[in-house]
Amino acid sequence: MFEELEKIQTAALAALESVQSEALLEQWRIAHLGRSAPLMQVFEKFNSLPKEERPVVGKRANEVKRLLESHLAERSEALHQNALAQALETERLDVTLPGRPIQQGRLHPSTQILRRIYDIFAEMGFQVYRTREVESDEYNFELLNIPAHHPARDMWDTFHTITPGVLLRTHTSPGQIHAMRENAPNPVRVILPGMCYRYEQTSARKEIQFNQVEGLAVGHHITFGDLKGTLIDFARRMFGAAVRTRFRASHFPFTEPSAEMDIECFICGGKGCNVCSSTGWLEILGCGMVHPVVLRNGGYDPKEFSGFAFGMGPERIAMLRYKIEDIRYFWGNDLRFLEQF
Ligand code: DAH
Repeated sequence: MFEELEKIQTAALAALESVQSEALLEQWRIAHLGRSAPLMQVFEKFNSLPKEERPVVGKRANEVKRLLESHLAERSEALHQNALAQALETERLDVTLPGRPIQQGRLHPSTQILRRIYDIFAEMGFQVYRTREVESDEYNFELLNIPAHHPARDMWDTFHTITPGVLLRTHTSPGQIHAMRENAPNPVRVILPGMCYRYEQTSARKEIQFNQVEGLAVGHHITFGDLKGTLIDFARRMFGAAVRTRFRASHFPFTEPSAEMDIECFICGGKGCNVCSSTGWLEILGCGMVHPVVLRNGGYDPKEFSGFAFGMGPERIAMLRYKIEDIRYFWGNDLRFLEQF
């Protein structure tokens, strides 16, 4: 019996040597200390031993059991420490490495110019009023005094939808009608910003989509002098107090009289260069006194009310201010372009 216990102990300890994982250790425990382990069999056979042998064999068997148990505990602890050390090694963070800088976002150049325009007109008492990008032919053209087949429609090459009479607005001017109809007969003073669409061959100066900011003021005694004063003040705030401006007679179906406003070319200071096509002036907007037909379509009696309107392109202004030579950069989403602003 003693010999057998000796063999059991030697075999168990030898087997333990090669145990390299916690899973294998559990297998070892079942094999050497489990219910059907050889050692446990010794305890089973205990009763068949001669009485005088029992205490000594029992004592020895218990010693072997405790020995195996203490080796098991030791091994378990060692394996656990091992696993921990390995995890620390493989999941280690090197806190001395330089961090990755967080990319800072910035506002699109159009948004920057739009916000500047909102600020300037807010100081003059104009509210921002937004209207739809998908418009009816009626609002985009007819109510603005541009009937079907009118040659002026050629100025706005149009994206038509598959629904007859529904289109992508070609300018922000239809917003004038919405704003007037919502406010008549009270005076209005609003700017109408937003995206416009034109069915055009793109080029350095033409895009199929672009922003416009429309302006509209309707009241009892609004004159062309108010229009000029408002727009000259706008130009000074936008381009600097020293900027020179001029108004040229023009034609738009929805204004009478109509004009275009130029600012002195700030590249050449008016001497003439390739940006201003040697004229010394840069066109920045169209404007005029709201046509009586348009006033009436908006719900105002033209005998009692008058108003002025204007429309400008923020991308064009951004191009002038930042010397951007191609309008297609605005929606190209090229970070090399966008990160410069
Ligand atoms: N809607 C015109 C365009 O897209 C711009 C414009 C001109 C707007 C004169 C106006 C205006 O309100 O009075 O070309």
